[in-house]
Amino acid sequence: MRTQVAIIGGGPSGLLLSQLLHLRGISSVVLERKTKDYVLGRIRAGVLEQGLVRLMEEANVAGRMHREGFVHDGTLVAYGDEMFHVDFKAHTGSGVMLYGQTELTRDLYEAREKAGGELIFNVEDVEIAGANTDCPQVHYRVGDRIHQLNCDFVAGCDGFHGVSRRTIPTDQKREYEKVYPFGWLGILSETPPVNDELIYSNSERGFALCSMRNASLSRYYIQCSLSDRPEDWTDHAFWDELKRRIPAEQAEAIVMGPSIEKSIAPLRSFVCEPMRWGRLFLCGDAAHIVPPTGAKGLNTAASDVQYLYTGLRRFYEDGDMEGLDSYSAKALARVWKAERFSWWFSSLMHRYPDQSMFDHKMQIAELEFLRSSDAAQKAMAENYVGLPY
Ligand code: FAD
Ligand code: DHB
Repeated sequence: MRTQVAIIGGGPSGLLLSQLLHLRGISSVVLERKTKDYVLGRIRAGVLEQGLVRLMEEANVAGRMHREGFVHDGTLVAYGDEMFHVDFKAHTGSGVMLYGQTELTRDLYEAREKAGGELIFNVEDVEIAGANTDCPQVHYRVGDRIHQLNCDFVAGCDGFHGVSRRTIPTDQKREYEKVYPFGWLGILSETPPVNDELIYSNSERGFALCSMRNASLSRYYIQCSLSDRPEDWTDHAFWDELKRRIPAEQAEAIVMGPSIEKSIAPLRSFVCEPMRWGRLFLCGDAAHIVPPTGAKGLNTAASDVQYLYTGLRRFYEDGDMEGLDSYSAKALARVWKAERFSWWFSSLMHRYPDQSMFDHKMQIAELEFLRSSDAAQKAMAENYVGLPY
């Protein structure tokens, strides 16, 4: 089999890239290790920057997002019983879109299927060969059959645990990592959100986040220990802990209900440099991970897709390699800024096991500065709504 771009991974990065290329007449094949239902069962991000909204529009898949998503013009930040508002719109002229990654992925699958896109599920033993030559190949197995896909380029959109990054020889890459000593326990519940806006809360008992998917579906997170398992937390224990970590007035307003999903995510900062080896290009979580505070994971994947899509278009439309040659440097320049913001916001909002009273006082002083300074709020707003690309 032959295609122009072999895309490894059918998550949001791979699907969005494939759809954008399709609209420009560039062929691709998406290879996904799991089933579609499995991919759609993963509850992940919920906040989309304007850049990703625009890309969804360019990919002709923005209809349902505009009908069902909610634009948020600001967020609430709490510490103890104190709470203040950061107005994104006033500071930057734009807001963010609340629309679940699950829904965005569903829209992309639908569009790819409608257009007869080549999506292959349940692929195993994926191997990339000849990535540093002009004719790379991807070998994979489905059931008992072994396949070979010849292509011009390989897009490694296969997430943090994928095969693409591992294909780059150790002496051709450098990895930077920070692992945080806690995780996030998240639940999804068919209850109305506690507030119209998100609440990020720093409490003495640990971080909490009140988010949502729509008017009758809430998403809540609490910082938890790395040794916790979701089954250790009853719904009752979760709600009880959440209420202790947000201001009393908000805690009283929470509508509780059974959880329909409960999972734990570890927190990690990670970057692989460069994001390219020969004709293999890493995109999204395959190249970098951020801790979720500030919702930059999916959005940083989207800016990679934009840079790679633009580079591939220039190659196929004008025979010009410049966009592909500058892909890694351009993507990394934005990635490191998203890494910084996510690290800063995580450090500000969580309780660390070895945190001293001095460290705690520093967090509170910074929160009070953020509350009172227009300049600090503007800096936060600029990063939260997304740096330009
Ligand atoms: P992925 O979504 O990981 O997609 C990669 C795809 O590749 C997967 O479908 C995988 O099955 C497939 N794959 C892997 N290996 C292979 C292989 N060898 N061959 C073929 N296919 C393969 N971000 C936020 O902003 N907010 C959040 O609340 C949030 N929560 C998260 C919770 C968890 C548990 C995780 C893991 C991530 C979370 N993120 C969150 C990050 C965000 O979801 C990711 O940044 C986003 O999914 C990146 O998209 P991607 O397509 O690059 O990677
Ligand atoms: C959500 C996740 C985040 O990490 C975040 O900062 C905001 C919202 C969410 O899943 O809704």
